[in-house]
Amino acid sequence: MKTLKDLFLDEVGDMYDAERRIVKALPKLVKAATCEKLKAALQAHLKETEGHVTKLEQVFKSMDQKAKGQTCKTTVALLEEGGDILTEFKGSPALNAALISAAQKVEHHEIASYGALHEWAKLLGNSNAADLLEEILGEEKAANATLSELALNGSDKEALGEGCNTDSAKECADQQPKIARRGIQPAGMNRKRAGALN
Ligand SMILES: [Fe+2]
Repeated sequence: MKTLKDLFLDEVGDMYDAERRIVKALPKLVKAATCEKLKAALQAHLKETEGHVTKLEQVFKSMDQKAKGQTCKTTVALLEEGGDILTEFKGSPALNAALISAAQKVEHHEIASYGALHEWAKLLGNSNAADLLEEILGEEKAANATLSELALNGSDKEALGEGCNTDSAKECADQQPKIARRGIQPAGMNRKRAGALN
């Protein structure tokens, strides 16, 4: 019969796979973002995500297990969708809003997963794993909050093509190609939905 320990190890394996996929995908989002503050936030989270991979290896070790990933289907799907949206909105004033939305979907999945894992580690009496998972959970929540702030204070208004009321919105809008800000689709814009991030 499967136990909570089996469930815990299954989910840690899922997140180990997810984090390694996110490490590969984030540089593409950093490159695509046209808002400097968003670029910096994504770059900072890439560093944290590399740390999450290491922390999950320590969680495996705390369970006397070898680190082993198993395909996280949710993350595969979210990154594929993020890649599509990135391709579709390239050159659009809505690009940064689209990138933030795609990144937040990944964060919310991680927050749900690490929330459960943290509780399970405590139930299993593994305080070392619980502490590591709580640290990861805290960083995911902080990254999500930063993305929300960037959307609310800049990228969402930029996506509407409205005048900018905040410094961050102005910064974002100023970095958009002028042609896109006038709502004209740049010539040769690639509409093909084939930009998977994974
Ligand atoms: Fe993470």
